[in-house]
Amino acid sequence: MTTPNPRSADHPIDPQFVNRWSPRAFSQEPIDNATLLTFLEAARWAPSSYNSQPWRFVYATRDSERWTQFLGFLNDFNRSWASQAAALVIVLSKSTFLPPGATDEVPSISHSFDSGAAWGYLALQASLAGWHAHGLAGIERDRIRTELKIPDTYSIEAGIAIGRLGDKASLSEALQARETPSPRKPLGEIAKEGRFAA
Ligand SMILES: Cc1cc2nc3c(=O)[nH]c(=O)nc-3n(C[C@H](O)[C@H](O)[C@H](O)COP(=O)(O)O)c2cc1C
Repeated sequence: MTTPNPRSADHPIDPQFVNRWSPRAFSQEPIDNATLLTFLEAARWAPSSYNSQPWRFVYATRDSERWTQFLGFLNDFNRSWASQAAALVIVLSKSTFLPPGATDEVPSISHSFDSGAAWGYLALQASLAGWHAHGLAGIERDRIRTELKIPDTYSIEAGIAIGRLGDKASLSEALQARETPSPRKPLGEIAKEGRFAA
């Protein structure tokens, strides 16, 4: 199932960047472990400050006994549509790291930034493989920390719903209206040469 993509870039870029998007209508098709691991493998190759690789992923697939627990990690709105996904991933990041030559860990100022890059790689790899990865800020962080026993030195960054595109008729009318690749601000609004301008 495909959706016409109304996006076009203003400068020449590889089509993968405009082809990736975040649907909410998923098909319930299960994902095999080998395929899911290719998405996580792509994330693994993201750059990070000091190559500290602060990203961590905890995941469950819809055919696993953990699925119901992971659905409980989403807020009500996200669970209403992401329950049709094939996998849910929780993205964590380690907030300390060991600088080269040091013996003690120090706070990292870039663990969230680095982990954002890793999520981006994951999403692009999923899209290239004909799947979709949808970021989820709407997650129950306290519940995740308690149930997955996440130490305080790890930040709970976001969730990711992964699946094959489904029929948008499965969504509410309001969500059907939003079920299309979204536009972007003009480049001139977000990138300025030599000065900041809000
Ligand atoms: C970190 C992050 C958190 C997000 N959280 C949610 C969410 O909780 N619920 C939701 O429906 N979409 C969520 N989204 C999806 C964004 O709304 C979507 O990526 C954005 O509108 C751009 O659309 P596109 O991904 O289709 O290009 C999130 C995306 C990211 C990257």
